[in-house]
Amino acid sequence: MKIAFVGKGGSGKTTLSSLFIRHLVATGAPVLAIDADINQHLGAALGLDDPEAAALPAMGDRLPLIKSYLRGSNPRIASTETMIKTTPPGEGSRLLRVCEPNPVYDACARPVELDGGAVRLMVTGPFTDADLGVACYHSKTGAVELCLNHLVDGRDEYVVVDMTAGSDSFASGMFTRFDMTFLVAEPTRKGVSVYRQYKEYARDFGVELKVVGNKVHGEEDLDFLRAEVGDDLLVTVGHSDWVRAMEKGRPPRFELLEDANHRALHRLREAVDATYDGRDWQRYTRQMVHFHLKNAQSWANERTGADLAAQVDPSFVLDESVVAPA
Ligand SMILES: Nc1ncnc2c1ncn2[C@@H]1O[C@H](COP(=O)(O)OP(=O)(O)OP(=O)(O)O)[C@@H](O)[C@H]1O
Ligand SMILES: [Mg+2]
Repeated sequence: MKIAFVGKGGSGKTTLSSLFIRHLVATGAPVLAIDADINQHLGAALGLDDPEAAALPAMGDRLPLIKSYLRGSNPRIASTETMIKTTPPGEGSRLLRVCEPNPVYDACARPVELDGGAVRLMVTGPFTDADLGVACYHSKTGAVELCLNHLVDGRDEYVVVDMTAGSDSFASGMFTRFDMTFLVAEPTRKGVSVYRQYKEYARDFGVELKVVGNKVHGEEDLDFLRAEVGDDLLVTVGHSDWVRAMEKGRPPRFELLEDANHRALHRLREAVDATYDGRDWQRYTRQMVHFHLKNAQSWANERTGADLAAQVDPSFVLDESVVAPA
C-alpha cells in the first residue's frame, strides 16, 4: 500500500509520516519509508542523529544505478540515458517488491531501528533551487517516481512517502501513484488553500485524498476544518508532548504516545487498508503512460533526441501477479 503525506511547509508532514511509520512497524508490518520532501527531516523524525541522517545515501545521486536495474532487458528502452522519470515498465523490466533484497535497496535504503522493529529508509537527498518545479532528468523526486512505477506492493506491506504538495509532483505523475494521499492541514486559511489546490489537480485522476488536521486545538479549530474540507476530513491530531520530546532527541517509547494520537494513527491505517479492494492496476498503468507521454512531448523527446512514446509497452499491465525476470 502506497501512502503519501503532503501539505503546506511546516504543517506536520514529516511528523505525521514518522508517527504513521512507527505505528505500522509496531504492528509488525513491513514498511519502506521514503523522504521526498524539500526539507529532508524524516530520518531525524525516525530518531537518527545528525551524522546518521547525513550519511544516508541520496537516491538522486544513484539514478544511473536505479535506471539500469529497473530497465533490465526491456528492449523498448534503448539506454539508461533515454530513461526518464516517467519511463514505464514493460516486458523485460525489473520490478521492485516491498520485501526483497535488490540492488536498489542495497544502494539506497538503510534500516532504522524503531520500537518493535525496523523500517527501511530511502531519501531523495537535499533539494537545491534548481530542483524546484523542474520537469527534467535531474528532478530529485524522479528517482522515487521511477521506483513507484516499478513497484508491486501487496496488502499489509506499506510504502510511506513524506513529500511536498509542490509543483514537482504535479509536473510528473507522482501525485497519482498512491493508494492514499494524506493532506496534512493546520486549521488555517493557508493550510486549507493547499488542500483546495491539491484536490483540484487530483480530481481528474481518481486520487484518494483525505485531510489530516494537525495542531488542532479545541472546537473552533475543528469547526473551521469541518466547514472548509467537509467529508474529506478524516481525523485530527492535537499538540503532542510526545512529539515535542522526540524533537528534543529524546523520544519516549512509542507506546507512550498519547492515546488520542494512537487512535488517530489507527484510523489512518484503516482508511489506507480500506482502499485495497478498490485497487485498479489497469488505471495505475494507464496513468503512468499518460504522464510519460506528456513528459515526452513537453521536454524529453527534445532532450533525448528520441521518440520516447516508443518506450510504452502497450500490452503491459503492472499488477501483483507480474513476475519479474531474475
Ligand atoms: N502534533 C504535533 N504536536 C507537536 N508538535 C508538532 C506536531 N506536528 C508538528 N509539530 C512540530 O511542528 C514542526 C513542523 O512539523 P514538521 O517538520 O513535521 O512539518 P513539515 O510539514 O514536514 O515541514 P517541512 O515543510 O519543513 O518539511 C516541527 O517542529 C514538529 O515537531
Ligand atoms: Mg518535512
